[in-house]
Amino acid sequence: MRRLVVGNWKMNGLSAPAAELARAVAAGAGDGPPDLVLCPPFTQIAAVAAILAGSTVAVGGQDCHPEPAGPHTGDISAPMLRDVGARYVILGHSERRAAHAENDGLVRMKAIAAARAGLIPIVCVGETEAERDEGRAEPVVASQVAGSLPEDFAGILAYEPVWAIGSGRTPKAGEIAGMHALIRARLVQAFGAGGKEMPILYGGSVKGANAASIMEIPEVGGGLIGGASLVAAEFLAIAAAARSFPGT
Ligand code: 13P
Repeated sequence: MRRLVVGNWKMNGLSAPAAELARAVAAGAGDGPPDLVLCPPFTQIAAVAAILAGSTVAVGGQDCHPEPAGPHTGDISAPMLRDVGARYVILGHSERRAAHAENDGLVRMKAIAAARAGLIPIVCVGETEAERDEGRAEPVVASQVAGSLPEDFAGILAYEPVWAIGSGRTPKAGEIAGMHALIRARLVQAFGAGGKEMPILYGGSVKGANAASIMEIPEVGGGLIGGASLVAAEFLAIAAAARSFPGT
């Protein structure tokens, strides 16, 4: 399977620059199997989807509500994302876990809602710096994996150590390899053969300059990119690095 490179634009993207960025990524993405995803803010999904139509770049949301519709002021449901052209949705990002008190149970319900709507969930896990310093990184991540995934999960995982996000710091290759191996073991335990195939993305300060050294780590199935996804040339450099490795 080719490595997947997902751009998480977070709360960035007014109409004109969002369209420009999407156009530049689509133009540079080339042909071949779709292995790139852009996740703009909700307000830009329809416009970005229209720009990316016919390209090898897919669109995703950054969150969804567990219910398909109803009295939830300010929320967006999975069918709404699908309706405007999204194929993926990021769930349980650490910024949502921290700022919106999202716990594993809620992320699990959102993953169920996403799959029901025909979206591919990208479920994020990752330890904080304090948890790592206390030597608890592995049990924390293992418990997030166990608690955040529904029994029939068929999506994508993203390991994003919270302290690596936006900090310019990345774990050592061995640390990423160790955590991805742990996640893989848990996925195989929970989902059998299906768990062997699920991509596990790495996220946290991935740039064009370090992408190749991260993509070559065993069990890294691609990247979830924040800041560098806001610059077309950087995002495309990461995509090129990902594409330079044969599928796993
Ligand atoms: P940065 O790439 O800016 O570190 O962000 C990572 C991230 O949170 C992607 O979801």
